Amino acid sequence: MSQITETTHDPLKLWKNFSSLQDKNVDLISFFMKGALSLSLLASIIFFLYSAYSNQTPWLICPICDNNNNNGSEARIVHHHTSVDNPEKTNISHIVFGIGGSVISWQDRRHYSELWWKKNITRGFVWLDEKPDTWPATSPPYQVSEDTSSFKFTNTYGSRSAIRIARIVLESFKLGFDNVRWFVLGDDDTVFFVENLVEVLSRYDHNQMYYIGGNSESIEQDVIHSYDMAYGGGGIAISYPLVEQLVKLLDGCINRYADLYGSDERIGACMAEIGVPLTHELGFHQVDIRGDPYGLLAAHPVAPLISLHHLDSLKPILPAGNSLDSLRKLVGAYKMDPRRTLQQSFCYALDSKWSISVSWGYTVQIYPVLLTAKELRTPLQTFSTWRTWSDWPFSFNTRPMSAEPCERPVIFYLDHVDEVRPGKTRSFYKRYLGETGGDCELATYAPVLALQTVNVSSSKMDQEDWNLEGQRQCSEVVSQVDGVLQIGLRRCRSGETLTPP
Ligand SMILES: *[C@@H]1O[C@H](CO)[C@@H](O)[C@H](O)[C@H]1NC(C)=O
Ligand SMILES: *[C@@H]1O[C@H](CO)[C@@H](O)[C@H](O)[C@H]1NC(C)=O
Ligand SMILES: *[C@@H]1O[C@H](CO)[C@@H](O)[C@H](O)[C@H]1NC(C)=O
Ligand SMILES: *[C@@H]1O[C@H](CO)[C@@H](O)[C@H](O)[C@H]1NC(C)=O
Repeated sequence: MSQITETTHDPLKLWKNFSSLQDKNVDLISFFMKGALSLSLLASIIFFLYSAYSNQTPWLICPICDNNNNNGSEARIVHHHTSVDNPEKTNISHIVFGIGGSVISWQDRRHYSELWWKKNITRGFVWLDEKPDTWPATSPPYQVSEDTSSFKFTNTYGSRSAIRIARIVLESFKLGFDNVRWFVLGDDDTVFFVENLVEVLSRYDHNQMYYIGGNSESIEQDVIHSYDMAYGGGGIAISYPLVEQLVKLLDGCINRYADLYGSDERIGACMAEIGVPLTHELGFHQVDIRGDPYGLLAAHPVAPLISLHHLDSLKPILPAGNSLDSLRKLVGAYKMDPRRTLQQSFCYALDSKWSISVSWGYTVQIYPVLLTAKELRTPLQTFSTWRTWSDWPFSFNTRPMSAEPCERPVIFYLDHVDEVRPGKTRSFYKRYLGETGGDCELATYAPVLALQTVNVSSSKMDQEDWNLEGQRQCSEVVSQVDGVLQIGLRRCRSGETLTPP
């Protein structure tokens, strides 16, 4: 059910074992073989004219980033403009949000919603258990939920509020918003990355019945609650026609499934009656883990980041500062390049035999050894399970995070992001010197530890990158001068793979 598809280009399989970092000629030949000669010529001329007449020469800023477009992509760029201007395309105004809140929890949690809520742009409400005495002007507008005391609730370890929260979709529907395509439900400690959410939903036909979200990361949760439901804290997106069906039977489901724990589980049970399965989108994150979410965020799947949850139950995502400050920093990076946020790229510095992994807007890891791509994409396990604080199992693979400094990467965390010129950013990552456990004293680590800053250049990801869904972007070391390692991110060339030498 995953939306991620493997992209295979058969004629290029031959080249799999060639690193095109080393063999540009192979790249060029395969390029010509694809019959794009004329486009290439046109692009070269345009490029030449641009280089000749632009006084801001792109090479100084990021030598490789401007080479992004494989020279043959003019046609697709045109496509990009048409799809952006398409008035039929789903935009933010087509979504109604329903946030499950309560008067007591709002005081502590409102900052999470305020991080993403756009006044007068995002539509919807926070749903409260009672009328608040005062309401912050910075918060989304609220509604008070209907009384639910007549519903059955027989679960022994949950809270009755699950009924009220489950009915948010119904009460939102009854408000009769016009021109709605999707209802999106979340908790008061959910952070949505709204542009990415809109972009992902716009790929689906809102006239069909869709129930979209993600599972719990902790298998124990999926076993107890269900694999077949979208977890509410990660966010639940339901298309209008499906909500139309759902609201007809929701109150009945609430009574029929009175023994279930949560609101999201009740909605999931109702979906079983309608017969619409969950569509998994890998960017929704319930974040049912304990401890440090670092490993998860440093190896995000190749999919847009849509939500994060539970951040006040976890170690702050950056080592300096509290949960909210470090989240604000991530959101600050997100605003510079929403689509690239947490997208992981990796490469090898071949002369120094380093493996380098970038999770854009968050962290850079350097290993003074060559790791396989399979290892690099696997999250370091810096956390335990949600319910029992166990070491396993999770709904994804993990690799151990050793306590021994010589078995860990050297980690750099986001410092800041600059827009160096329209469409281009440079993000800076620095070591956190208060890191516990000490530094590795092996000679191979010394040059890594000597780095002050990692400086990552990239073009903002555009619609076209988005359409090339399913392939991780490539990266390469551009320079290493005076304690600054500079890395460039770009779209991979045709047939380019990350294969260790
Ligand atoms: C794109 O064009 C530039 C300049 O003409 C050329 O140097 C480069 O090799 C081309 N890249 C590809 C992938 O063909
Ligand atoms: C969203 O799309 C509608 C058409 O369905 C259009 O009228 C509206 O202007 C668009 N809004 C934004 C914010 O782009
Ligand atoms: C939102 O709309 C209201 C009413 O139209 C207006 O008074 C207010 O200034 C707007 N707020 C923002 C942030 O645009
Ligand atoms: C980052 O790298 C670029 C390219 O090498 C360089 O021009 C720039 O000065 C670097 N920035 C910093 C702050 O080191």
